[in-house]
Amino acid sequence: MKGKLQELRNRALEIINNAVDLSALEQARVDLLGKKSELSGVMKQMGKLTADERRELGQMANELRSELEQQLESKKAAVAAAALELKLKSERIDVTAPGKKLPMGNQHPLHLVLDEIKEIFVGMGYEIVDGPEVEYDLYNFEMLNIPRDHPARDTQDTFYVTDNILLRTQTSPMQVRTMLKGKLPIRVIVPGRVYRSDEVDATHSPVFHQIEGLVVDKGVTLGDLKATLEVFAKRLYGDDAVVRFHPSHFPFTEPSAEMDIMCFHCHGEGCPLCKGEGWIEILGCGMVHPKVLENCGIDPEVYSGWALGMGLERVVMRKYQIDDLRLFYENDLRFLTQFN
Ligand code: DAH
Repeated sequence: MKGKLQELRNRALEIINNAVDLSALEQARVDLLGKKSELSGVMKQMGKLTADERRELGQMANELRSELEQQLESKKAAVAAAALELKLKSERIDVTAPGKKLPMGNQHPLHLVLDEIKEIFVGMGYEIVDGPEVEYDLYNFEMLNIPRDHPARDTQDTFYVTDNILLRTQTSPMQVRTMLKGKLPIRVIVPGRVYRSDEVDATHSPVFHQIEGLVVDKGVTLGDLKATLEVFAKRLYGDDAVVRFHPSHFPFTEPSAEMDIMCFHCHGEGCPLCKGEGWIEILGCGMVHPKVLENCGIDPEVYSGWALGMGLERVVMRKYQIDDLRLFYENDLRFLTQFN
């Protein structure tokens, strides 16, 4: 029996030594020390021995048991340490490696230019104001001196909500709203969405953006209008931009004008970009009609003013020589990422 224990010890130590992971060690523990193990079998046979033999062999068997337990424990610790080491190695990160480049978004060209325009006017002391897109017919037309029979009031052009309410066709109703507040003098810029019942094509969209400007004060003249708009054009298009004014007609201004900018492509010669004109129309403007001032409770004998209106899409198309307005709304990144 002594020899058997000796032989069992050798085999057990080898099994423990060869176990490569925690589950193999657990299996070894069950096999070597469990109820059905050889060692337990030896213990059970102790009863058949003499008292002396039992004392000697019992001690040997107990010593073997605690030796194996110890060996299992220390092997277990070694396996766990090795596993941890492996894990640390495989999960190591190189904190000095260069980072992955994330794509940067950029501003939409309409916003980019709108911000520029706002900044130019804010720099000249103007306030930026905002108004409703669902508007009264009264403000959009009537008080702006656009009579009932004016072609702009046709349902062909205007989205009516009710007889008296519509989607604003221009930002000009904000002239009325601003003047009705009764705070003078006025220097405001109003960017916003406007709506017209147009089919979509390269130059038309049922929704687009306008920027309105309004100045009302004592002694405001056409000279103020021209000087301000010239400065504006040079800030937006560069110091070499050349502008000209020519007479036009708007019901809410008198006199009315349009400002053109000399074609940057052909410098006035005439080319496909300016449709052979040499000049490109940028905005409408004029002195606020005395009737409009009166409609808004301002005495035209004391106060005068000028106004401007421009289409943002047009201005941006001209600035970047974009020939199709639909590009602004299609969200094609190949187009949108060209502006920075
Ligand atoms: N509201 C005009 C339009 O939509 C543009 C305009 C022209 C606005 C002259 C003005 C202005 O304030 O003075 O066609």
